[in-house]
Amino acid sequence: MITLSVIKADTGGFVGHSAVHPRLTAEARREIERAKSSGLLVDGHVESCGDDISLIMTHTYGPEAGLIHSFAWDTFQATTHIAKDLGLYGAGQDLLSDAFSGNLRGMGPGYAEMEFEERPSEPVLCFLADKTEPGAWNLPLYKMFADPSNTAGLVIDEMMHAGFAFEVYDLCEDRRIVFDCPAELYDMLMYIGAPARYVVHGVRSKTLGTTAAATSTQRLSLIAGRYVGKDDPVMIVRCQSGLPAVGEALEPFAFAYSVAGCMRGSHHAPIMPVPVGQAHPSRFDGPPRVVALGFQIKDGRLVGPRDMFDDPAFDGARRQATEVMDYLRRHGPFEPHRLPLEDLEYTTMASLTRRLSHRWTPITTEVATPAGLR
Ligand code: 13P
Ligand code: 13P
Ligand code: MG
Ligand code: MG
Ligand code: MG
Ligand code: MG
Repeated sequence: MITLSVIKADTGGFVGHSAVHPRLTAEARREIERAKSSGLLVDGHVESCGDDISLIMTHTYGPEAGLIHSFAWDTFQATTHIAKDLGLYGAGQDLLSDAFSGNLRGMGPGYAEMEFEERPSEPVLCFLADKTEPGAWNLPLYKMFADPSNTAGLVIDEMMHAGFAFEVYDLCEDRRIVFDCPAELYDMLMYIGAPARYVVHGVRSKTLGTTAAATSTQRLSLIAGRYVGKDDPVMIVRCQSGLPAVGEALEPFAFAYSVAGCMRGSHHAPIMPVPVGQAHPSRFDGPPRVVALGFQIKDGRLVGPRDMFDDPAFDGARRQATEVMDYLRRHGPFEPHRLPLEDLEYTTMASLTRRLSHRWTPITTEVATPAGLR
């Protein structure tokens, strides 16, 4: 069995929240090389999307392994150190705790992990997104694993016909459920169509009995009085041979669907699939970006990556994202561009409530109409 772990954190933005400084990426790469030499990792790769660094790692310790998580934590401490030296924005932004204790749950960094028996050919896609939240994977996962208009294999591949099981987290109540699709597809859509609260954590093949997809949905934990766990997400999708073909797993991103995030984490905006070199959201801290790194895994080695959205066939989605961004921007501070009050990452509402509470008066029938208007 091999474990693929993608662990990410924002340890400082260059400039603002738009990108990762090359010195941070270089430091993370040095750490990955050291961990490969010491035998901790079978292989590793470092990539960034926006201001988030992702460590893509293969190893044999299984998910939630203390050794792997503490390695990632130490690496992010090291990049934070450099970010502070360079005065980068929000240095150490996602390291919410002072001390590492066992694993990264509730510590700030996000992680998607899966353990599986490597097939003779093991094509895997690692999706990294910036300026959005884990629920942003709900729509593409539904399309990949449950929509025959997206995934031809659901109809014409014998091994996909039985469908897939979706594990969904309720981030508000700290509970989970497994939906058997397609039988329970309509039940599931009632929930995952509300991605701020219900988030697909993983998908399994019913025929193969193995894991097919994993996202960085951390259970929400309370740290220093605020909820954490909803942040710029990553996702792993295994492909082919009873699972979606690579092209079927990429196809949902040919549509620039709307996600929550963008400026101050408080706006709806279209997600834009881009090659790694364009994953630097600067216009209104957006539009939110997604990159897809393709690997063939062989004996745990990460053969790749291929930059999967570096394909002119995604130009249409990029154009669409720009058009939708223009349209939504014209709403300024109004919904549906601005998020509903309960989903805002930034808010002045609490202080407004305090300051204005005495000025709100009941609406009565006794409205004094100015004399001139009678
Ligand atoms: P090839 O014929 O190029 O191997 O493609 C097969 C396939 O399944 C594409 O989705
Ligand atoms: P990040 O979550 O990517 O740091 O972005 C935060 C933000 O406020 C962007 O405007
Ligand atoms: Mg972040
Ligand atoms: Mg940031
Ligand atoms: Mg970010
Ligand atoms: Mg964010």
